Amino acid sequence: RKALKQKLLDMHGEANDFFQRNLRMQAGEGARRYLEGRGMSPEMISRFGLGYSPDDWHGLDNFLRTKGRTPEDGVIAGLLSKNEKGNIYDRFRSRLIFPIQNLSGKVIAFGGRIITDGEPKYLNSSDTPIYKKGDHLYGLNLARSTMTRTKRAILTEGYMDVISLHQFGYTDSCGVLGTALTPEQVKRLAGFCSRIDLIFDGDGAGRKAALKSSRMILLQGVACKVVLMPDGEDVDSLLQQQGTEGVEACMANAPDGLQFCMNTLRAEFAPRDIMAWAKSFLSDLSDASLRAYYLPRIAGGLGLSEADFRRDAGVSGPPRNTISQPR
Ligand code: CTP
Ligand code: MN
Ligand code: MN
Ligand code: MN
Ligand code: MN
Repeated sequence: RKALKQKLLDMHGEANDFFQRNLRMQAGEGARRYLEGRGMSPEMISRFGLGYSPDDWHGLDNFLRTKGRTPEDGVIAGLLSKNEKGNIYDRFRSRLIFPIQNLSGKVIAFGGRIITDGEPKYLNSSDTPIYKKGDHLYGLNLARSTMTRTKRAILTEGYMDVISLHQFGYTDSCGVLGTALTPEQVKRLAGFCSRIDLIFDGDGAGRKAALKSSRMILLQGVACKVVLMPDGEDVDSLLQQQGTEGVEACMANAPDGLQFCMNTLRAEFAPRDIMAWAKSFLSDLSDASLRAYYLPRIAGGLGLSEADFRRDAGVSGPPRNTISQPR
């Protein structure tokens, strides 16, 4: 098992070299122009190790063979795919490649963006023995030292969001990559920082993710802030248009996590759904002192006295003198 993992890591290193070389070669010209058009600096291209998968069904396949790998190994690594007929071919073709690294900087998976029109926009590695989607955060290995210093983590949605944030100086940024934030990811971040600033897209998916993610972070007892982008923008597009000033303005007006949840609930939920949310939030809080901290704040956020809220929500009072603040 250990030997298998090592082999998969080695193969990802080999694939990474292949993709990076292709970005620099003739084949990568379109991808290089694409990156330039999106305002990405050469420094970020190299810091994030971007690459290109050529327009070839057997480019990586053939390359891995020269390294002594079998096509079956490539399938296990999630680098090659196999169809119903049993034919094996490159999973990533004609895509800009974003390597996903673990905390030691080893490549464990890839994401690939289409650079012309087509679907899907992003294609990602499937889960393998070295990569479980919900355990990792994109860019964390590059962000951790700044996080440790600032005690803050910026958490955003996408590949380009993370890279643009770093390019504009927010080097404590990492990304969830479009999936739901997991408790494991929050615990991991909490090891480096005491506050998480969520920067999510100004679209329906972003607002939904912001509510779920802030709830999750608050449940872990970590402080957070929710920075929603203007309608139709994400932090990458905002930075490209307005630079750090645009982002700073959004940050200055951003509510903390609980305020954000309360505002969103009041704006978008029916009264009984709000009460159900509050009830489930409090019952999911395992820590009694956190319950004691949040309860009056939730009651206040709903415009209720603590006693009325307790009665309506059917929650019992916390023991006295256990009140503490989130870290
Ligand atoms: N995503 C994905 N598969 C898709 C679409 C999105 O895995 N088909 C993930 C990617 O990690 C993407 C993130 O969700 O970066 C956010 O999605 P979205 O906002 O739609 O894309 P952007 O990151 O804004 O992509 P871009 O700026 O390159 O258009
Ligand atoms: Mn070929
Ligand atoms: Mn989006
Ligand atoms: Mn975008
Ligand atoms: Mn986006």
